Amino acid sequence: MAGIYLHIPFCKQKCAYCDFYSIANKTYLEDFVNAICTEIKLQSEYLSSEKIQTIYFGGGTPSILSSDHVEKILEEIYKYFQVEQNNEITLEANPDDLNEKYLKSIFTIGVNRLSVGIQSFNDSDLQLMRRKHTVNQAISSIVEAQKTGFKNISVDLIYGLPDLSLKKWEENIDQAIKLNIQHISAYHLTIEPNTLFQKLQKNQKLNLPNEKESLEQFQLLVEKTKENGFLHYEISNFAKDGSISLHNTNYWMGVKYLGLGPSAHSYNLTSRQWNISNLRAYLDSIPKGKIPLEKEILEEKKKYNDYVITSLRTMWGLNTKKLEKDFDKKYLRYFLSKTENLLKENLLRKSGNNFILTEKGIFISDNIIASFFYE
Ligand SMILES: C[S@@+](CC[C@H](N)C(=O)[O-])C[C@H]1O[C@@H](n2cnc3c(N)ncnc32)[C@H](O)[C@@H]1O
Ligand code: SF4
Repeated sequence: MAGIYLHIPFCKQKCAYCDFYSIANKTYLEDFVNAICTEIKLQSEYLSSEKIQTIYFGGGTPSILSSDHVEKILEEIYKYFQVEQNNEITLEANPDDLNEKYLKSIFTIGVNRLSVGIQSFNDSDLQLMRRKHTVNQAISSIVEAQKTGFKNISVDLIYGLPDLSLKKWEENIDQAIKLNIQHISAYHLTIEPNTLFQKLQKNQKLNLPNEKESLEQFQLLVEKTKENGFLHYEISNFAKDGSISLHNTNYWMGVKYLGLGPSAHSYNLTSRQWNISNLRAYLDSIPKGKIPLEKEILEEKKKYNDYVITSLRTMWGLNTKKLEKDFDKKYLRYFLSKTENLLKENLLRKSGNNFILTEKGIFISDNIIASFFYE
């Protein structure tokens, strides 16, 4: 079992907070679609005939692709990979792209999960973030997607925004829940390098919440989603009716994946590789049969640290049997030596062979996870 990620590096405009690789210019969209189809063929051996369970169009803005583009890319994947019948095919979409016609066409060609970048249900916050859409567009995109037949819809929200009061954040959560969607991904704002927000922060023009306020916003999110039947299965992810993101869960479980397109990462248990974050270089290289990438062979220490980071972020936690089976004995000893105080302080709990962060632990997860790193 494995996954395929496709990075679509185009956006209508750059949002004030985002440093994902993308360009705000569609001139080379057709060339890009042709190149990624070629890359599918070039990389067809990478997953060594594992069956593909999940396909994820991420970005950038995948909903910039026409449905014909999406269909062409999927056909190419079906040609070179064995895709499971019972698959999950996700498209990240911006609300302003989701009209009735587009939704119908992508649904018909097999996209069965939408991840809609709503970010906020407040128009002035959307403007501050330099989003292209309005709250009305956000709401009607979800309603239209539901009418089309999508039964697995996720929305992205951002908290920890400048001047975001607890009340305003609560209105955002309430609005998301009211839409009767299956999944919420809610991220705390990170100020990323080379973004407009970083510039504003440097000039002291952003009134960001302090640590206590951020924590209150996270706590409110955890409480409200729980009250409304959402399972908090990963620090930033909440799912109703079993609709967890299979693609992302497989990342956290250490399943192999192939990333296609500029800046996409791949992992095959022994190494990680990542394509160059440069569309021009990608477009020049792929037609010559060469994938512009860098590669890192994973040492055991790195694999252990990665396993700690990803597993402890999830509700399934870290499995000591897996640690024992896949790693040198010293790593299990090291991990267990660090658990005692955390268990006493009720930051960590044990369930069978798994160590899981408690609700109290989740609020300071970064510190706890770092305490397990093998240096
Ligand atoms: C790679 S973006 C692509 C999604 C799509 N283009 C969109 O804008 O809706 C995926 C998600 O990451 C989140 N994100 C991106 N940059 C972030 C930042 N600096 N802080 C917090 N969340 C961020 C946003 O919620 C966004 O929807
Ligand atoms: S948040 Fe989405 S639309 Fe905005 S710049 Fe990032 S990838 Fe593009």
